Amino acid sequence: MSTSPAPIIIDTDPGVDDFIAILMALRSPDLDLLGLTTVGGNTSLGNATLNALRTLRAGGRPDITVASGAAEGRTRPFIFADHFHGETGLAMELPLPDMEALETSAVTWLAQTLTNRSDSITLLPVGPVTNIARLIEEHPEAANRIGRMIVMGGAVDCPGNATDCAEFNTWNDPEAAEIVFGFGIETTLIGLDVCNQVAFTRENIREGAGPGRLMMDAWFAEHPDSKEFHLCDPLAVAVAIDPTLVQTESISVAVDTSDGPERGNTSRCTGRGADGPPIDVALEVDVERAVRIISALAL
Ligand code: BDR
Ligand code: CA
Repeated sequence: MSTSPAPIIIDTDPGVDDFIAILMALRSPDLDLLGLTTVGGNTSLGNATLNALRTLRAGGRPDITVASGAAEGRTRPFIFADHFHGETGLAMELPLPDMEALETSAVTWLAQTLTNRSDSITLLPVGPVTNIARLIEEHPEAANRIGRMIVMGGAVDCPGNATDCAEFNTWNDPEAAEIVFGFGIETTLIGLDVCNQVAFTRENIREGAGPGRLMMDAWFAEHPDSKEFHLCDPLAVAVAIDPTLVQTESISVAVDTSDGPERGNTSRCTGRGADGPPIDVALEVDVERAVRIISALAL
């Protein structure tokens, strides 16, 4: 019996791994990508929005909606990752898009789409969750209509990548992450606990011939000393396609919003807050199967 593709929206800050993730969503017969909302993070909001449009063009779907969102975090400007993703946010130059982003903001478009559609939408935030926190504050009824969120963020039982303890997306807006994880939407958290295990290497991209392969070649050329590229955002899309790829534990997650060295750290809530809504934190992943799914759709 065939089922219809699941409607999804990706909230993104492209970003090389965001590019791969979006290509997967475009190519998967199991997913129906309704639109992209953008946020600053890996790069400025302006670059992220252009890159979202460029990615849709590269994937042959320039008709898909892009709505632009937050240029800064709730309490601080974003700190970009040009050293990793490149000055424009992508490792390779892509043609300028011939489409434009909506005039409507990301938060308004999300609220309208969630309200107007009768089916259950899965939301995949793969950048700082600033737009989603605003949606919750400004349109809580619409946010309550989200079927499930698959969030790329956090590092619960492992070290961080932005600092010793914090993962980049939660570190860039921990105040937003605290609101989003505490709101009670059914959530799967795809953090570094699993993302660090799933990687492209120069060897396992050899079979590809499409835009994903070209992007990875460009990234490895820019990073001659790197042996692997962690597939963080693509793993979130792979889990939207096949939730059995990861094993999860239901945990209340605390986000550190202090000004200290722990800022952005995500940890198991003990003490105060331990009665907050639990989310499904991915702690184990079927690495081989995940790499196979990502390669087949993105390279
Ligand atoms: C996350 O941060 C960004 O650099 C990637 O795009 C991914 O969303 C990994 O920590
Ligand atoms: Ca990202």
